[in-house]
Amino acid sequence: MSRFNEPTDAAFDAINRSLDVDQRLWPFDIAQSRAHVTMLAAKGIIPAEDAGLIHDALEQVAGELEAGIFPFEQSDEDIHMAVERRVSEIAGPAGGRIHTARSRNDQVATDLVLFTRQASLDAVASIDQLIATLIEVAEAHLDWAMPGYTHLQRAQPIYLSHHLLAYVWMLARDRERFRFVESQCQQLPLGSGALAGVNFDTDRGSVAAELGFAEVVPNSLDAVSSRDYILDFLSASATCGTHLSRLGGELVLWSSQEFAFVELPDRWTSGSSLMPQKKNPDAAELLRAKAPRLVANLTGFHGVMHALPLAYNKDMQEDKHYLFDSVDNLQLALAAANGMLDGAEFNRDAMNDAASDSMIAATDLADLLVRRGIPFRESHAAIAAIVRHCVDDNRELSSLTLEELQLHNAAFDEEAIQLLSQQSWLESKQSAGGTALSRVEEQLVDARALLS
Ligand code: ARG
Repeated sequence: MSRFNEPTDAAFDAINRSLDVDQRLWPFDIAQSRAHVTMLAAKGIIPAEDAGLIHDALEQVAGELEAGIFPFEQSDEDIHMAVERRVSEIAGPAGGRIHTARSRNDQVATDLVLFTRQASLDAVASIDQLIATLIEVAEAHLDWAMPGYTHLQRAQPIYLSHHLLAYVWMLARDRERFRFVESQCQQLPLGSGALAGVNFDTDRGSVAAELGFAEVVPNSLDAVSSRDYILDFLSASATCGTHLSRLGGELVLWSSQEFAFVELPDRWTSGSSLMPQKKNPDAAELLRAKAPRLVANLTGFHGVMHALPLAYNKDMQEDKHYLFDSVDNLQLALAAANGMLDGAEFNRDAMNDAASDSMIAATDLADLLVRRGIPFRESHAAIAAIVRHCVDDNRELSSLTLEELQLHNAAFDEEAIQLLSQQSWLESKQSAGGTALSRVEEQLVDARALLS
């Protein structure tokens, strides 16, 4: 018997079904059903014999889903209904007891929190891998000079190791964000029923323990209606993706012929169907483009949750669309970043040439005057005049004689010439966190500790 007098419209089925999206939740759905049924029998809510039949059926269902031979039917609206239907087919009338004292509302919330917990741990593991690779590449290029940029104009020289380690610290913070998400997935929703609790003397604590939760959600409405752990995951993914987009953007520039700082591994690039000479940094470009998609997932799902009355609303079924897309694309982005860096060949000469442009030492010349007692603003103006003079005459800073320098400021002495000729400006950045080798080595010690 059904409450309805006519079959559902095909288009309604299409908009209402979530099976295609949510079937990947099956391992969590099976796990929670096992824990639930074990508890129901232990509390005497269902007969032990029936619980046994349901467990056997769940075993078979898991095997069918694992092997990709589960017989889905058009009437299976979502993975929860599909599993329950199949359990009843296999276990007979006993299967009808599996849905005692639960609702799809607390069921889907439980699947999702389990899924998000696992996805957070996976994100942490992939970030660890990328951090390890960045450290390795930094170690292998410890003292390779390159220009540091602001406004994409050559600003001050740095070491490649220093540049790469900047990403390690961004990723370390991303990792903290995913650890936080995982900490938000420690309460069990199951046992809250549709919204108000259930009419049985259940033991939520034992289900929580079996599923690895520290505790149960203390409010049944909150249990079925909150999705903030998903928002947290989407937010952490958006920030991490944005960091990776900056790495991607740099790899696109650096691998261009104009920079020629790096050659990306063949296995992470593609050719052109038209121009045989080309090697395209597609994966780096996609790192750039995945970030706005991850941000869109965050803002999109904020939109879904906005102003929703408590408790469960079907709007929330869309959560999986955003969550799965971010989980998958974040993993792809982390794998691509790792793979490209792992096989990247840096071009020491090209980077060094770009860093040897003596104009890049202008700040160091200004600081020399400061050390000789000239106020910084005055020395800045003197160096600006010198740079202008060089640009007008098409000369390098390093070609200037001491006498020429002294025309601009009498405080210049022999150290200015040494500074320009020896490229000592890299090693002079001795401040904590600076690019001088000793400081980069200190950083590496701290960076390696991130992985222990
Ligand atoms: N497929 C649904 C979802 O993902 C499961 C919960 C359905 N609950 C309901 N009362 N219709 O949100």
